[in-house]
Amino acid sequence: MNHPKEERTLVLMKPDALQRNLLGEIVGRFEKKGLKITGLKMLQMGEVLIKEHYGKYADKGFFAGLKKYMTSAPIVAMVVSGVRAISAVRVIVGPTKGYEAPAGSIRGDLSMSIQTNLVHASDPSEDPEAEIKRFFKPEELFAYKKIDFDYLYSADELA
Ligand code: CMP
Repeated sequence: MNHPKEERTLVLMKPDALQRNLLGEIVGRFEKKGLKITGLKMLQMGEVLIKEHYGKYADKGFFAGLKKYMTSAPIVAMVVSGVRAISAVRVIVGPTKGYEAPAGSIRGDLSMSIQTNLVHASDPSEDPEAEIKRFFKPEELFAYKKIDFDYLYSADELA
């Protein structure tokens, strides 16, 4: 079971993560932090998903390049859960521009680009649950208690 205080958020490992052999490294960073993987799958993004997920950028100059990049190879989609997971995941991922993202973050340590920035993480203002629904069916998601849970959080953080 997930604790009632646990949040869920969507992470996409983009084609450059796959091509640069960084999938394991990236999954490991979330695991080591103490976050819980509650969904994981590989898929090929196509026209429909690109429109749904990146539609807000359709009028931007970088949209055509973004579409080409995101459809160039499969992606790995992941749902990450934990207490305050939405903000914790964004800190681990770092800001969009890899070349100025802080060292220690995935983008800061592993990316030099605005576009090929390895990962996507849900923005809290853009309804992470809606993003999860875009990529996962309910039966592809799991709720369970991890054995390290009681050591990751203090009792008052869970009250
Ligand atoms: P992501 O967090 O998935 O959200 C939108 C994506 O568009 C972003 O990561 C980058 O991959 C890409 N992106 C954002 N801004 C630019 C830009 N100025 N030029 C090229 N790609 C961009």
